[in-house]
Amino acid sequence: MRLIFLFNFTSILSLATSERVLLDQSAARRDLPYESPLPALKWRRNIVRAMKPTPRDLRPLQVRDTTTEFPEINAKFSVESTEYKISNAGGYPRLAKLADGTILSVQTLPKVNGTTSIMQVSKSTDGGKSFSLFSEVIRAQNKDLDNGFLIELPPSQSTRVEKHGAPVLIAAYRNHDLDSSGNPTYFRIAASRSEDGGRTWKEASHVFEISAEKSQGMGVWEPFMRIGNQGEVQLTYSGEIGPGNQETFRALSRDGGKSWTEPVNLRLHSKDEPMRDGMQSIISVKDSENGRVALVMALEVKIGAVVHLDYTISYDDGASWQNRSGIYDPEGDDKSAGAPQVANIGDGIVVVFMTDEDTEHVDWPKKAATKALFSDGLKNGVLAWTKNPLLVDESPSWWPGVVEIGDNEAMAVYGHDNSPRGRRIKKQ
Ligand SMILES: *[C@@H]1O[C@H](CO)[C@@H](O)[C@H](O)[C@H]1NC(C)=O
Ligand SMILES: *[C@@H]1O[C@H](CO)[C@@H](O)[C@H](O)[C@H]1NC(C)=O
Repeated sequence: MRLIFLFNFTSILSLATSERVLLDQSAARRDLPYESPLPALKWRRNIVRAMKPTPRDLRPLQVRDTTTEFPEINAKFSVESTEYKISNAGGYPRLAKLADGTILSVQTLPKVNGTTSIMQVSKSTDGGKSFSLFSEVIRAQNKDLDNGFLIELPPSQSTRVEKHGAPVLIAAYRNHDLDSSGNPTYFRIAASRSEDGGRTWKEASHVFEISAEKSQGMGVWEPFMRIGNQGEVQLTYSGEIGPGNQETFRALSRDGGKSWTEPVNLRLHSKDEPMRDGMQSIISVKDSENGRVALVMALEVKIGAVVHLDYTISYDDGASWQNRSGIYDPEGDDKSAGAPQVANIGDGIVVVFMTDEDTEHVDWPKKAATKALFSDGLKNGVLAWTKNPLLVDESPSWWPGVVEIGDNEAMAVYGHDNSPRGRRIKKQ
């Protein structure tokens, strides 16, 4: 088995590189076309399929401004029909709500004039009802710049006082060098800092970097950040470790994003299972059965050609993870659900994601719509999820983000027609 693995790995490397370019218009991330070399995978996939929740009640949940009851978790949610425009251009939006109530969005405009990519920040001071263009994190030529994510540092980790009270922020993103045919030659997860509330930015550090030659073409993607119990920044990202095999890594910064610990592979799946984990996002919750504070991570998992959603739980502030289980796997062997991001909503949880489950002719990730699923909270390490997703935005709608913006209210954002937009989701 091991021999087969190595052989196939080497032989598909060149293929993987050329096909990446074709997928590049999805912009947000390279969904690598690795097919698993392991015959055992088919078997593994059947196991995963068998874990699927009981058949769904196939009500068409395409309604907005209407409260939908989810008896399976005894809760009610609605998606507003009003759509808020975040900017005139860009994709892969991610929101950050600052301590003073300001909401910032980071989005990327890839290759605006064929060569230059720009990462921009929009700002809302009215709770997400209107946004205006605020600043630029970075622009670069002939680079693969994307997957922006913002976080405000807690006062203990920032120079807030010295800087007249303006929040200190970190923006993390992928910043890869490309050769003249658009293939990556150098991979980075980079961090920029702002000491004036997001108005100006300076590239501050590389969380991780490796040449494509050294990594044998395997890249790093999709940073996410949260603040740990000691006030440190915990940055998690996806790192390819083999064909069809990707893991989540974690690095810490105790100096506000200027330097990082060596990234640690969190080993969210066993070494022998080539599952492509990615697009993770994390929230803190309280386990209502055992009273412990826990973290919930939502992630996508690609096995073979299709993607589904999993979650996993940490009781030690994100150092180790357990109780991995499924959130959602659409019906139909060729249908995918991926790119999940989670937020607290009241005493529950919302996960927004994209799925092509309604398309007749599958072309993942191109024909996806943004949808939402809900949980009523953690009970002894286990989450129950609604079975039938609520539509947030019609296809083509990509790479959603979500953040809690008020009592029983979250805002989902997504890229649609090359601009970032959002809708509010409410728990009744
Ligand atoms: C794209 O814009 C940058 C400035 O942001 C400029 O330096 C570059 O020459 C432009 N490229 C093309 C092909 O217009
Ligand atoms: C989940 O984790 C809790 C707490 O560690 C444990 O008691 C429980 O048995 C686990 N449940 C499953 C289904 O793994």
